[in-house]
Amino acid sequence: MSSPASARRPTDVDLNVRIGTLLLSNPVIAASGTFGYGIEFSHLVDLNSLGGIVVKGLSAQPLAGAPAPRLCETTGGMLNAVGLQNIGVRAFVAEKLPALRKYRTAIIANVFGYTLAEYVEVIRVLEDAEGVAAYELNISCPNVDKGGSEFGVDPSLTSEVVTAARRAAAKRPLWVKLAPNADVRATARAAEAAGADALTVANTYPAMALDPTTGRSKLGRSTGGLSGPAIKPLTLRLVYDISRTVKIPVIGLGGIASLSDALEYFRAGATAIQVGTAHFADPRASERVVEELRHHCIELNINNINQLGGISN
Ligand SMILES: Cc1cc2nc3c(=O)[nH]c(=O)nc-3n(C[C@H](O)[C@H](O)[C@H](O)COP(=O)(O)O)c2cc1C
Repeated sequence: MSSPASARRPTDVDLNVRIGTLLLSNPVIAASGTFGYGIEFSHLVDLNSLGGIVVKGLSAQPLAGAPAPRLCETTGGMLNAVGLQNIGVRAFVAEKLPALRKYRTAIIANVFGYTLAEYVEVIRVLEDAEGVAAYELNISCPNVDKGGSEFGVDPSLTSEVVTAARRAAAKRPLWVKLAPNADVRATARAAEAAGADALTVANTYPAMALDPTTGRSKLGRSTGGLSGPAIKPLTLRLVYDISRTVKIPVIGLGGIASLSDALEYFRAGATAIQVGTAHFADPRASERVVEELRHHCIELNINNINQLGGISN
């Protein structure tokens, strides 16, 4: 006599995914700039439940950031002009990493600079530290040595910054986070050819919101970056195109707040996903997506996430 389907359901599910040489305990990662340095969330979230945490962007020197207001709600999304405020890479290593490295979760250092030398300096400092699993290069930054063109918009500048970072990052995988306001297939190819191990797709979209009466920006700066549900269909298409253009894994992020959002990204070609703006409404958003994913696999009666349609390892 055959047993009922519920009796055959797996009690646990292997959610491990591989991003190149890096094995993550599951494909859900907290996105840079939306989850602090991770440790601030430890009283609200079981950090060990996440596949990874990408910390706030780190620069060679501490940065005070942009004037207030830094956030503004828009229809279906959010604008931010945080100005990449951070404590600087050396303070991160001394003050945050010792607590972070006690967790099993992969800690990914988001790195940025305004010159090639600054990117290289941040990576060199991190290379000497323990507890970092990978680097994620934020290339949505103006290159002050090249008249302010963004590294991530011009494929030749993308190639230069990834080549320099690759040389400095001898020990660890290098992920490159693409700017969405670019010919992304060209920048994706440039990053892959220069040695990226994976691509994070994508950053926020340059955007603005004005007070209709005064004409003044609703942010402390004239423009900011758009994120949240409003960008999901746009970024989903970028993930779809890029995953068919390069051979390295693609990590998708843009407006993910639920299991179904994550599944859409897997179907489009992502190997892992990041949760960003959703943390502002629910600090447990990424942990919740991990749980939803686990239950989804159990419902489908599969015990390994790689059996789920769309996950491309
Ligand atoms: C307040 C805020 C700060 C951010 N800071 C960074 C950052 O330091 N480095 C980075 O690469 N991306 C940063 N991002 C971009 C996010 O990591 C993510 O790429 C983007 O918000 C799109 O995903 P989402 O729609 O899920 O938020 C920031 C986003 C927000 C909303």
